[in-house]
Amino acid sequence: MPIPSLRDQRVVILGGSSGIGFAVAECAAAEGARVVIGSSRQAKVDTAVAKLGQAASGHPVDVRDEAGLAAFFGAVGAFDHLVFTAGDWGAGVRPGPLASLDLAAAQAAPNVRFWGALAAVKHAQPHISQAGSITLTDGLLAHRPMKGSPLTPAFGGAIEHLVGGLAMDLAPVRVNTVCPGLIMTEVVQEYPPETVTRMTAGQPLPRAGDPAEAAQAYLYLMKAGFTTGQVIVVDGGRMLV
Ligand SMILES: NC(=O)c1ccc[n+]([C@@H]2O[C@H](COP(=O)([O-])OP(=O)(O)OC[C@H]3O[C@@H](n4cnc5c(N)ncnc54)[C@H](OP(=O)(O)O)[C@@H]3O)[C@@H](O)[C@H]2O)c1
Repeated sequence: MPIPSLRDQRVVILGGSSGIGFAVAECAAAEGARVVIGSSRQAKVDTAVAKLGQAASGHPVDVRDEAGLAAFFGAVGAFDHLVFTAGDWGAGVRPGPLASLDLAAAQAAPNVRFWGALAAVKHAQPHISQAGSITLTDGLLAHRPMKGSPLTPAFGGAIEHLVGGLAMDLAPVRVNTVCPGLIMTEVVQEYPPETVTRMTAGQPLPRAGDPAEAAQAYLYLMKAGFTTGQVIVVDGGRMLV
């Protein structure tokens, strides 16, 4: 069997204009893949494509807009791997007592990260190679319930269970998720340093991860032809403590 490689593979990354998704785009392009990125803001897409260079292209798409996703994938055409890192950081739901939970806001909260992911898979499916893969994204808080935030683990866990269902449904296309701990993306760079220290203290690797370190899990899942329905945790060992 040839050594798995991303050379000349077409990789579509929704959420690829910044953070973890941009790092996946950079690392995949460095391995010879042709990458297509999408995110909601045209200017962000253009800036990221310019940084990525000739192996990259991109189009604006809002993953909450099903017709827009259908048009996006129609324009992309045939490709090999879908990576979904689009996220809005739980817009709309504030931590607090359950008695004051705004249920309408709670219902809308997973519109990007869960419903957007499912809609993306739905419209990617007709174009993706049968030898290809789909990799979604959740987060370590799926495994760290906290007082005042009962929905956070539910939404992350929903993605972890969705990949099992999709892996059965879409086989032989493989479907997995990456579960990152704290990763030093642009958003996290805005945190006070003492917050990052507090959040990572006690981990076997007591720091935030680099986006390129998180990206390696996505690259692995694209190339790992016998792996499907799985969760790959990239968290500096946070799961252990
Ligand atoms: N960084 C961490 O520590 C960490 C830890 C655990 C889990 N995660 C999760 O991993 C994912 C990526 O995190 P990140 O740090 O890389 O965040 P990020 O830099 O904010 O990246 C999010 C990406 O999603 C895009 N996006 C947002 N809303 C969108 C929409 N409606 N339609 C299409 N694209 C949209 C953004 O671009 P536009 O603004 O142009 O739309 C951007 O490209 C998020 O779901 C986050 O919750 C992150």
